[in-house]
Amino acid sequence: MNILFVGDIFGSAGRHIVREHLPHVLETYQVDLLVINGENAAGGFGITPSIAEEIFDLGAHVITTGNHIWDKREIFEYMKVPADSHERGRRILRPANYTSTTPGFGFYQGQLADGTEYAVMNLQGRVFMSACDDPFRKVDELLSKITAKVILLDIHAEASSEKVALGWYLDGRVTAVLGTHTHIPTADERVLPGGTAFQTDVGMSGPYDSVIGVETELVLHRFLTGMPGKFEAAKGNPKMCAALIECDAATGRAYAIKRIMLGE
Ligand SMILES: [Fe+2]
Ligand SMILES: [Fe+2]
Repeated sequence: MNILFVGDIFGSAGRHIVREHLPHVLETYQVDLLVINGENAAGGFGITPSIAEEIFDLGAHVITTGNHIWDKREIFEYMKVPADSHERGRRILRPANYTSTTPGFGFYQGQLADGTEYAVMNLQGRVFMSACDDPFRKVDELLSKITAKVILLDIHAEASSEKVALGWYLDGRVTAVLGTHTHIPTADERVLPGGTAFQTDVGMSGPYDSVIGVETELVLHRFLTGMPGKFEAAKGNPKMCAALIECDAATGRAYAIKRIMLGE
């Protein structure tokens, strides 16, 4: 089976470029499972229920997120659904290693139309990021609850070392470990010896004439003056970044991973 994972959609430029290229990619590669990181989909900061609906309408089975998940308050209610629900609000994830009292869930297990079970987990790193629980211990806990063989992890983290370490930690235990958050795609995609597809960062789906999605001038101003200022999403040079994983649906073992970057 084929899995497509789309990196952080950033602002309207990101939403447009994904809408433009995704249908062709889904058809060309006969994608069975589609997972999209949407933490920056609303103007670069967070995600609203209507934008989540838009992403689900594109065919996403699950939306993952990260540290920007709470930037738009409207999403809180949308994610308050029972644990055993399969509605859309249950299929948008926040990192699993957040405090358990926060809305939403950090993993989802579902079934494709042909009966294949799959699971998606979302975790946040701890290096150079705000405090959260240990992602290594948390992933063990999640895996003990998951019965699906096809399992994908979005590890939303800043440090390459933390993501690479998690890749090795999970090699042979999950289908794919894919990094997000830095918004810069890395060229290290590979299948680890145990059969886990890995890429340190899938890269954002958004405007690359920017500083990781934000208008360059605004970020430069902050670096040069040290003064606060409002950040706005850039528009120029949009690209869609994704990883395509080919795996055995029966065992969950990955055969191949391909890096995708499409744009104008
Ligand atoms: Fe992001
Ligand atoms: Fe992030």
